[in-house]
Amino acid sequence: MNYDRTYFEVSADYLRTRLGGFEPEIGIILGTGLGGVAEQIDDPIVIDYKDVPNFLTSTAPFHAGKFIFGTINGKNVMCMSGRFHVYEGYEYQQLVAPVRVMKLMGVKKLILTNAAGAVNKSYRPGDLMIIRDHIKLTGVSPLFGPNDESFGPRFFDVSDMYSRDMRAIALKRAKKTDLRVHEGVYFFFTGPQFETPAEIRAASVLGADAVGMSTVTEALTAAHCGIPVLGMCMITNMAAGISDVPISSEDATEIARRSGAQLSDLISDIIGSL
Ligand code: HPA
Repeated sequence: MNYDRTYFEVSADYLRTRLGGFEPEIGIILGTGLGGVAEQIDDPIVIDYKDVPNFLTSTAPFHAGKFIFGTINGKNVMCMSGRFHVYEGYEYQQLVAPVRVMKLMGVKKLILTNAAGAVNKSYRPGDLMIIRDHIKLTGVSPLFGPNDESFGPRFFDVSDMYSRDMRAIALKRAKKTDLRVHEGVYFFFTGPQFETPAEIRAASVLGADAVGMSTVTEALTAAHCGIPVLGMCMITNMAAGISDVPISSEDATEIARRSGAQLSDLISDIIGSL
């Protein structure tokens, strides 16, 4: 399958028929337990992924599987409550879908959130980490396969993919909240198992501050088609071996839900100043 412009135009054309001329400017993809942002959207138009031709369907727990179009703080947004992960069994190439459809809908900036484990020992569950950069050593990319030049070049620079300007805005705004906020490096693991303590020690030596199973495929697809990204991790647990507590996805989701309310307010504030 060639996941090129023609393929995703089918999804975008369908969405346009449902939107009555609404044009999104900012894309948002919400992580596990962080669906609360969707409740901040005014005049929402909700569209299930399963109704959108040539799109993917969410299988991950705590992921709603809906687009929500509307406004936050006066800005037109296209929000995805529920994202797609490699561990669900998708091919990496399929994982370009969310961001390519956003690009075709006219999205100019992208906000990605996720739940992550802390490798950095100074972090605590409930903290926020703004992603400065990522490490992905899995040797695969969503941009494998034939390149569609209409989205971007075959080889592309990713040295400023987590936009310096958006990070500066997010940091400034986050300082006004009660959240403890950091800027750091996100290390991608495919999951679905959490990491081994040895993997976490290795990630730490390599420069990781937090680990998770999402976000990088979306960020890379955005970098390819020239959309600046703001990535934010809700720290839900200390990574494997950093503390003696076994990692449970239920506990992590509960932390994400609790601190997620503050993150929703922060995202709304950030969007107002983008
Ligand atoms: N590892 C990977 N993904 C995660 C974690 C973790 O510790 N916590 C939340 N998502």
